[in-house]
Amino acid sequence: MKSKLLAFAFLTAAMLSLPAVMSVAFPLSEPVDNPKKGILIASFGSSMPEGEAAINAVADAVRAAYPGVETRVSYTSRIIMRKLAREQNRTVDEPAVALAKMAYEGFTDVVVMSTHIIPGAEYDDLASVVDGFRAISGSAPKAGFRFIALSSPLLSNARDFERMAGVISDTYEEQAKKGAVVFVGHGTHHFADAAYSALQMALWRRSPNFLIGTIEGMPSYDDVLARLRASKVKNVWIAPAMLVAGDHAHNDIAGDEPDSWKSGLGQAGYKVTPILSGLGQDKAVQNLLLDKLREAWDGAKQ
Ligand code: CO
Repeated sequence: MKSKLLAFAFLTAAMLSLPAVMSVAFPLSEPVDNPKKGILIASFGSSMPEGEAAINAVADAVRAAYPGVETRVSYTSRIIMRKLAREQNRTVDEPAVALAKMAYEGFTDVVVMSTHIIPGAEYDDLASVVDGFRAISGSAPKAGFRFIALSSPLLSNARDFERMAGVISDTYEEQAKKGAVVFVGHGTHHFADAAYSALQMALWRRSPNFLIGTIEGMPSYDDVLARLRASKVKNVWIAPAMLVAGDHAHNDIAGDEPDSWKSGLGQAGYKVTPILSGLGQDKAVQNLLLDKLREAWDGAKQ
């Protein structure tokens, strides 16, 4: 009797020392033939409510498409996660932490859904994390998963450029008849920056009035301005070619400061109309992301 009490006290003490979030259900000994599927959305993140709206819209679309599968959201930017913790007292997990928790809670099949636009440095890092969990799963299945897969970014291959160009040219068809529509992507030093130029080519097949620019890569602001000057347009719409309309969209693209795209193009004589909506809020783009997710699930089944 005494030893039973001791064992009970020991167990209780052990359970109390676990982090609250992990104390729910963690059947580590659950057989693998009792599958538990999960989706982990991986986004750069945003500290602005307007930005988070796009990420939430993507999460809602995934939950509607996979009602029986638990869908969680992770952020890859530690700067944003720290800002949320400091200013809003909120915790969002980064992918490695979120995946460790899912393994601990007994998820067997997990697809990590990239919401990245291009396969750049952020995506490479995410792929490394997923590769790490795949390696764990191979040697220590209980610490990992039966299946783990990662979906590819929106602009990963020639078919993607065509599909994305089709989606955004449909959305902005009317504007393109009255002027230029400039999509501003993030841009990067990474070779994947070339995806923006490929998207530009695909967009030009639809209209010469669709222009792609980037904040940190190629094509640049000057490239876009040169194209506008070579055309006869007077009206310019600028929209973020980013998942969220967050800090970059509100400041670098559409801000009132003299160095924003809106101010620069206004100074250059154009009538500028900013569109403050992230790609993640576009239903057609959500469907492209869902196609990527489905492809990743299919890969996991093999
Ligand atoms: Co940035």
